[in-house]
Amino acid sequence: MLIDADIGYVNEDVDPTLDLRDEIDRLRTEKNAVILAHYYQEAPIQDLADYIGDSLGLARQAAETDADIIVFAGVHFMAETAKILNPSKKVLLPDLNAGCSLADACPADEFAAFKAQHPGHTVISYINCSAATKAQSDIICTSSNAEHLVRSLPEDEPIIFAPDRNLGAWLNRQTGRNMVLWDGVCIVHQTFSEKKLVRLKMRYPGAPVLAHPECDEPVLRQADFVGSTSQIRKFARESDLETFIVATEEGILHQMQKDSPGKTFIPAPPDSGCNCNQCPHMRLNTIEKLYLCLRHEAPEITMDEDIRRRALVPIERMLEMSAAVV
Ligand code: 13P
Ligand code: SF4
Repeated sequence: MLIDADIGYVNEDVDPTLDLRDEIDRLRTEKNAVILAHYYQEAPIQDLADYIGDSLGLARQAAETDADIIVFAGVHFMAETAKILNPSKKVLLPDLNAGCSLADACPADEFAAFKAQHPGHTVISYINCSAATKAQSDIICTSSNAEHLVRSLPEDEPIIFAPDRNLGAWLNRQTGRNMVLWDGVCIVHQTFSEKKLVRLKMRYPGAPVLAHPECDEPVLRQADFVGSTSQIRKFARESDLETFIVATEEGILHQMQKDSPGKTFIPAPPDSGCNCNQCPHMRLNTIEKLYLCLRHEAPEITMDEDIRRRALVPIERMLEMSAAVV
């Protein structure tokens, strides 16, 4: 067939004369498909998506859509979340290898052993984890609603937070909690350099630093605003300031620049001279793979039904408990 299991996407040459945007438009109408994209996708994918958002916005859209097919232009845990919410719909991911270092850092069997070492704890898991890890959790959160959800639990309730130790530590600092943290990091946010950020702030005095809570503590200490991708975008859109330093995956700059063409957005520098502020997982998706995925309705997300049912419970709890969070 079209998909080589080791490759993870439809491996077929695309006719270079095709207008892929037109073809994707035609196919999505024909098939009643919706394209949901995260901000970390390349600009051409963002520009043709039906909806672009952060993890919470994407989960909400996935829960509400009446499309027959969901094409997820994002990473595996996001598409899996859409499938958990929509077992009867076809959920497609242009490249099945689009993973996440946080999800990879928390294998379900190791997480079960960790939980057993901390009996009596409520488990809050960041949405960046596998369905099998979600199935072992009490509440799922995203960076948009994590603080709200942690604060909604009684102050003396012991909590395990997984898998992002930076987000967990930031939540502990914000709320005065002492949650037990799983030791995972995002390879992209972990690489921002505090030293270079400080130098950049000196070059652009007055430019606020907008940072994602997946960054580590020394970088977050330099931040004027900490929030999810959508919250960072909103902050910049609504601000009267002109110049902003942005410490998250640089794909978000595309929408920020479209919102505010007159403003200047400076990506925070990673530690080395690399392109490490581009997520290598997110960037596996390309417009060609998206086209082929929609055309052949593959690769498709599938999962064990028992895991799906168990993973649905903490996701629904998140959606209910954070209905008011924007
Ligand atoms: P949000 O878009 O929910 O802030 O998440 C960022 C991220 O790293 C997704 O993988
Ligand atoms: Fe995972 Fe980080 Fe990539 Fe987001 S940016 S998908 S958290 S590796």
